[in-house]
Amino acid sequence: MISAGLALARVEDIPDAGARLADAAGASLILTRRGDAVRAFRNRCTHADYPLQRADGRLIVQEGRYLVCAMHGASYRLDDGACAGGPCNGGALEPIAIIVRDGVIFTA
Ligand code: FES
Repeated sequence: MISAGLALARVEDIPDAGARLADAAGASLILTRRGDAVRAFRNRCTHADYPLQRADGRLIVQEGRYLVCAMHGASYRLDDGACAGGPCNGGALEPIAIIVRDGVIFTA
């Protein structure tokens, strides 16, 4: 359970289209953005429960549409976290409720 009201990042600090990591009181999240659409997901791959970033901390975004797990290549849609290919096998990233106020993203 993630508490509401935690500031995560500014919308403008997320690449468009792209993704970045955020910390919610010790829980690792992924924030994704395509234009004005911002989403948050728990940073856990459905394949083997690893975080998605590379060893250097960077997230892999392909074609401005897909978030790719650095471990074995599972691919998720930026828009809704749904599996788009690879070993996620129809799973989806766990969505986290957020709100945006004055350009700042908060847990909801
Ligand atoms: S842990 Fe992400 S693809 Fe295997």
